[in-house]
Amino acid sequence: MEVIDYRLMINQSSVIRKMYKNALDRAEQIGYENVFDYSLGNPSVPVPEEFNNEIIRLLTSEDSKHIHEYSPNAGIVEVREAIAKSLNSRFGIDYKSEHIFMTAGATSAIAHSLRCVTKQDDEVIVFAPFFPEYTPYVKLAGCKLKVVEPDIKTFQINFEKLEQLLTPEVTAIIVNSPNNPTGIAYSEETIIKLAKLLENKQKEFNHDIFIISDEPYREISFDNIKIPYIAKYYKNTLTCYSFSKSLSIPGERIGYIAINPECKDADIMVSMCVQISRGLGQNAPASIIQRAIVPILDKTAQLSVYENNMNILYDELIKLGFKCVKPNGTFYLFPQSLEDDANIFCQKATKYDLFLVPGDSFGCCGHFRIAYCVQTEKVKRSIFKFREFVQNEYCNLLNKEQSLILR
Ligand SMILES: Cc1ncc(COP(=O)(O)O)c(C=O)c1O
Repeated sequence: MEVIDYRLMINQSSVIRKMYKNALDRAEQIGYENVFDYSLGNPSVPVPEEFNNEIIRLLTSEDSKHIHEYSPNAGIVEVREAIAKSLNSRFGIDYKSEHIFMTAGATSAIAHSLRCVTKQDDEVIVFAPFFPEYTPYVKLAGCKLKVVEPDIKTFQINFEKLEQLLTPEVTAIIVNSPNNPTGIAYSEETIIKLAKLLENKQKEFNHDIFIISDEPYREISFDNIKIPYIAKYYKNTLTCYSFSKSLSIPGERIGYIAINPECKDADIMVSMCVQISRGLGQNAPASIIQRAIVPILDKTAQLSVYENNMNILYDELIKLGFKCVKPNGTFYLFPQSLEDDANIFCQKATKYDLFLVPGDSFGCCGHFRIAYCVQTEKVKRSIFKFREFVQNEYCNLLNKEQSLILR
C-alpha cells in the first residue's frame, strides 16, 4: 500500500493554478483586460436568471427555518426525485430517488464513487489526456492509477493499450466524455466497444468492473451532436454529474451520482455513499442550492458562446499551422505545441500575454490546453497575439501561405 503523505503533496500543486496565478500577477501590471488568460476552466457565460430567481423566491417566500435546515445525508428526497425524473425522460433509464446521491460537484461525486466500488490497492484506469485531479482522487482512495496512452489522431480510446492494462486488479475505469482537455466526446462505436470489452473481462476475471463516468461537460456539445449517455450502454456505471459548467455555478458546489439501477449493489450504493461522507467529513450540498436547481434541471446557461469561441480559435490555429483534433464539446482545445517541450512553448507564450497550460500534467506531452471560457471579444483580440507569437518564435516552421497571413 502506498503511503499517503500530505506534506509531500504540497509540492505537487496544480500546474493550471500556477499558470492562473501567473496570469493574475501579469494582470496587476497591465490590467486583466490585456491578459489572455486561457488557464482555468471557470465558466464565462452568465448564470441562468431562473437559478437566481429561485434562490430569491426561496429566501423571501418559504419558511426560513425549513430552507436552511440540515439536508438529509444523501440529499433532499424531492430534489433526488426530480433529478431521477429528468434523467429518465432524457436518457430512457429507470432511476428512482434511491439511485441519486447529492454531492459537492463532480469532485465529490468521483471521490465517493471510487470508494464505493474499489478496495485498498485496487487499480483504476484513466485515459490520457486526463483531468490532473484524477491522480489525487485515485491515490487518496487508496488505489493505484493506471494511465492508458492516447491515440493522438482521434483522442478516442486506444483499445490496444487499454487491453494491456486491463488486468484482474482493475475494478474501476474513469471515463470523461466530452473530455477535459481535448474537448472530444467518445463516439457511440467507441462506447459500445468499451462496454463489450468490460463485459468480457468481468466474466474472465469473475468480478465486477465499474465505469465511473465523469460528465460535467455533458451539456456542452457542438454541431448539435448527441453525446451518448454511457450508463445506457453499460450496467455497472456510476454517472458523476456537476452543475458547475452547465449552469455556470462552480462555486456553489453541486452535483450528484446517478447509480444505474442495473448496477451491482445499486440498492445499497447510496447508503454506502452516506457512510463514505462520514469518513470524508463532507456533507450534502447546501439545502438552498439543492432546491434552487430543481426548476432548471432541463435547462442550461447560454452555452453556444463556447462553440463560437472554439470556431474562432480553431480556424486561426489551423491556419497558423497547428495540428488539433476539432472538439465536439466542452470549452477546451488541445493542440500540439510547436516544439516538443510544451512547457517551454507555454513559457514563451507568456511573453505575448497568452496563458496556456502544458499537456504534461494531463498525461500527454507535446500538447497544450486552451480554456476558451472567456469573452468572445477577448478571443478575437487574442488572435493577434497568437500571430505575433508564432511569427516571432516559430517563423522557421511557417509555409508561404501562413507567412502571408502574418504579414
Ligand atoms: C473533467 C472534470 N472532472 C471533474 C471536475 C470537477 O468539477 P466540479 O466543479 O464539479 O467539482 C472538473 C472541473 O473542471 C473537470 O474538468
